[in-house]
Amino acid sequence: MSLLQVNRVNHSYNSKRFFKWKDQMNKALSDISFSIEEGKCVGLLGTSGAGKSTLGKVILGIQRPQQGQILFQGHDIYNADKRTRQMLRRDLQVVFQDSYSAVNPRMTAERIISEPLENYEKLTVGERRKTVISLLERVDLSEKDLKKYPHQFSGGQLQRINIARAISLKPKLIVLDESVSSVDMVTQSLILDLLKGLKEDFGLSYLFITHDIKAAFSISDTIGVLEKGELIQMYDSKDQFFSSKHPVVMQMKDSILAEHPRFRSIFN
Ligand SMILES: Nc1ncnc2c1ncn2[C@@H]1O[C@H](COP(=O)(O)OP(=O)(O)O)[C@@H](O)[C@H]1O
Ligand SMILES: [Mg+2]
Repeated sequence: MSLLQVNRVNHSYNSKRFFKWKDQMNKALSDISFSIEEGKCVGLLGTSGAGKSTLGKVILGIQRPQQGQILFQGHDIYNADKRTRQMLRRDLQVVFQDSYSAVNPRMTAERIISEPLENYEKLTVGERRKTVISLLERVDLSEKDLKKYPHQFSGGQLQRINIARAISLKPKLIVLDESVSSVDMVTQSLILDLLKGLKEDFGLSYLFITHDIKAAFSISDTIGVLEKGELIQMYDSKDQFFSSKHPVVMQMKDSILAEHPRFRSIFN
């Protein structure tokens, strides 16, 4: 059984227009099916507006699709009982792109990271602090950062705090929606290394959503290309992707090579 199975998901947004007869449905996801195995990272690559975030939200259980099914460990997440939903909330976590807006600016790093623990684990204050310190250390921060506020961290450090919070309940799957897209290249590569290490250590699975081919290939085991709401193909290797003659993939390759001829090296 796959950890996550996406079955024939369709979703449209109703875009209300001033004139009623002009109401129209915007198709954001068209008949999407794929699965994620335990310990694996599926990359979801697509240009802006392709439907990536919508698919992420559908998988996280926060956007019920009009059609289709999301099975997490065999449970239909939109038709689950209370206990299963509670389990899902622990096992499915998310890290978004904008690290600053994901956190409450008035909370210290300690409170940000310990919030899920307070909600789900019965720990004493001392145990919780110990856990938070070890989580900070796991993301290459330290005890000294416990009492700092979001504005005292760089974007990359704050993204580490978001990652620490996401792993605090030892989830099975993390949806990373453009999580490394707004940091510089060096920070990006450090965070990608951190994510790869966590994946190995905890047997985590990721849905890695990005518009960045290089980042997608650096971490993913399989890459799905999403275009105008359609999952046009899943690729199991770089070779498969770069030898694809699909017009959407050809265009992606052309644009990255035109912009950064040096990136040829990532294709090897
Ligand atoms: N809340 C919403 N209401 C109406 N349309 C939306 C909403 N969210 C996204 N869309 C539309 O759905 C399509 C897919 O958006 P999104 O999933 O955010 O794409 P991506 O994350 O790949 O950029 C776009 O055309 C977008 O304008
Ligand atoms: Mg998006």
